[in-house]
Amino acid sequence: MILITGGAGYIGSHTAVELMMAGHEVIIMDNFSNSKPQTLELIRTLAGKNFPFYEADMLDTTALEEIFTRHKIEAVIHFAGFKAVGESVAQPVLYYHNNVAGTINLLQTMSKHGVTQMVFSSSATVYGNPQTVPITEDFPVAAVNPYGSSKLMIEQILNDLYNSDPQWRICILRYFNPIGAHPSGLLGEDPNGIPNNLMPYIVKVASGQLPVLNVFGSDYPTADGTGVRDYIHVVDLSLGHLKALQKISVEPGIHTYNLGTGRGYSVLEVIDAFEAATGQKVPYQIAPRRPGDIAECYADPSKARVEMGWQAARNLTDMCMDAWRFARPAV
Ligand code: UD1
Repeated sequence: MILITGGAGYIGSHTAVELMMAGHEVIIMDNFSNSKPQTLELIRTLAGKNFPFYEADMLDTTALEEIFTRHKIEAVIHFAGFKAVGESVAQPVLYYHNNVAGTINLLQTMSKHGVTQMVFSSSATVYGNPQTVPITEDFPVAAVNPYGSSKLMIEQILNDLYNSDPQWRICILRYFNPIGAHPSGLLGEDPNGIPNNLMPYIVKVASGQLPVLNVFGSDYPTADGTGVRDYIHVVDLSLGHLKALQKISVEPGIHTYNLGTGRGYSVLEVIDAFEAATGQKVPYQIAPRRPGDIAECYADPSKARVEMGWQAARNLTDMCMDAWRFARPAV
């Protein structure tokens, strides 16, 4: 069985569905800190199958112990973690405690139960402000906020763990910008409050829940002056986790892969693509740069293609249509 921590969350829920559709048995653990119990029902509907669920926190070692005692777990896909950059700056200790200490608890419990396969959710944020693009996995890493730091610390812990005991099989996945939703319209990203990220914000503006999108900066050294990112469909991203599991099941070691499309789009290109794909207007205005943002960030995803046989298949139009199908108020 595969344990999915944070399995009710945005990427975790999509991955749970894809895993079950591919015939895996899964267990989900989530504390609902940024997700909802109803998502579990939707996962069951889409996968057409049931699974054990634990409402539990990684900081609760007793709960972890119970899960690993009750089930024969072969591998863990570890999504659980806090991910809001601004909040991490305001509450660094909370972020380090949850993300780093939580992961240490998980690794200790895995060790104790002889479970040595892990796929870990890292982020392109570990590259900081890259010197050039596209970004390959051997680029220097740099933490620019406590959230990014927590991801880097965990990567370091996983590397040290593997060096101390080569029985471990670990895959670190560095996500670029996941957007979109399940094509059924049932699963998607539903952040509480006012969204920080571009696509959830666009969707709220398109549906009239927010008046206007602020485009953060139009004077970056990019083709149209707005920030460029590598947006990747959440279903493609989820499928990357299946490939990662396959990879570590046949090959011990520690592997690090970028999961991106290899193509960057500017904020204005995303707005255009969204309007064209959905027929909805997205009123926007140019605003000052957001502190901490970089001009351009996109992946060289060829290592994942060559070594895992994974590549993204869905384009920006699919991402926009699916995001909108999920968010559209019922008519
Ligand atoms: C953000 C995080 C990053 C994290 C990722 C996870 C920050 C500074 N970075 O990445 O660490 O790994 O989310 O999803 O929060 N934009 C606007 N208007 C908006 C929102 C965004 O113009 O209302 C622009 C941004 O300036 C950027 C692009 O859209 O150029 C994408 O922004 P966003 O979706 O927040 O992602 P990142 O900043 O790349």
